[in-house]
Amino acid sequence: MQTHGNPFVLAGYVSREYFCDRETELTWLKDQFTNDRNMVVYSWRRMGKTSLIHCLAHILEKENQADLIYVDLMSARNMQDTIKAIARAVHNKYGRTSKGISKTLGTLFSRLGMSISFDPLSGIPKATFGLTIPSPTEHSLEALGEFLNARKKKIVLAIDEFQQITRFSETNAEAVFRSWMQSNPNLRFIFSGSQRNLMRSIFSEQNRPFYKSTQILDLRPIPLNVYHDFIKKHFKKASKKIDSTIIEEIYDWSRGQTYTIQLVCNKAFGANQAITPETLQRIYHEIIEQEKPVFYNYMKMLTNIQWDVLRAIGLSEPVSSPHSKDFITAHGLGAQSSVSSALNALVEKELVIQEKDQYFLHDVVLSRWFQQQA
Ligand SMILES: Nc1ncnc2c1ncn2[C@@H]1O[C@H](COP(=O)(O)OP(=O)(O)OP(=O)(O)O)[C@@H](O)[C@H]1O
Ligand SMILES: [Mg+2]
Repeated sequence: MQTHGNPFVLAGYVSREYFCDRETELTWLKDQFTNDRNMVVYSWRRMGKTSLIHCLAHILEKENQADLIYVDLMSARNMQDTIKAIARAVHNKYGRTSKGISKTLGTLFSRLGMSISFDPLSGIPKATFGLTIPSPTEHSLEALGEFLNARKKKIVLAIDEFQQITRFSETNAEAVFRSWMQSNPNLRFIFSGSQRNLMRSIFSEQNRPFYKSTQILDLRPIPLNVYHDFIKKHFKKASKKIDSTIIEEIYDWSRGQTYTIQLVCNKAFGANQAITPETLQRIYHEIIEQEKPVFYNYMKMLTNIQWDVLRAIGLSEPVSSPHSKDFITAHGLGAQSSVSSALNALVEKELVIQEKDQYFLHDVVLSRWFQQQA
């Protein structure tokens, strides 16, 4: 196994060694898989959904239980894009294996109306993913289903950024997908997505096709004590020192968000000096500076009142009553009705999130920037 220069990895899943915890979640996912249940994983941004799925893939494959095919729908705009994305993922998985599969893949691709050519020397298929005459969606899904059902191992199809389906040009995309899932009871599906509110609506609104069709995992922050031990262990292994109080401070500043904790720890580990509160302040400053272009983009995207409400929540979070006179007066926000509609727009855009009746900024570094300026 390759070792990493810095154990606090920022670019997805590398190996269990650098992956903190998620034992309960992995057990839960494996239990759903063993008992033939389809799953949904959602959370606020950057908590570790995609990495968790890659970790599960690693485990299922190592234990020879299943092949996990990972599909990212971030750039898909319609069902045809979705079929292409699944076909591409299938090709990545099976395209470079035995010739037997390659032939079957060839048949699949022609059923999908996609062009595929074979390298004359190696016989390896080269998919161009250009559509010749695209097959109707239902036919393509049927062909994909038949191909996946014919595999020796069980298949888990993990579809990430699934909330994109709500923006597809076809109005019946959810219904089409749901009936595909139903007609393939031997395939296991994991749906995940980074827009928590949209994901929740797809799977828990009574009048939607996916209502009560899956088991749902709302991925929460990794507990402080567990992250603490993980951080300590990796510093110790490299003969570096970090105090528990500093770790607690990092966890609080990051509000338990996995990516932010990883980022601060990655920089602290790379600092090559004792991690004092001063070093930590320098790291925070560096992170905020790097994020500033993103913050200016938010500013451009929002109306003045939306920006003011965003700032007010960032300064006072957690905020339990942003509609109250006290809050509005304290931040000089003006009419209550305009504060209400600005807040609704911010929640809709998921720039402000609501947890147990308290409001926070979704982007924790943005909060820290506002707080630094106060
Ligand atoms: N359990 C973990 N241990 C260590 N690092 C992790 C863990 N989970 C995620 N990470 C790191 O956190 C970052 C975010 O993870 P990931 O991309 O999986 O989150 P996500 O929830 O899918 O984000 P998004 O909402 O943007 O899709 C990555 O840099 C990843 O390396
Ligand atoms: Mg993700």
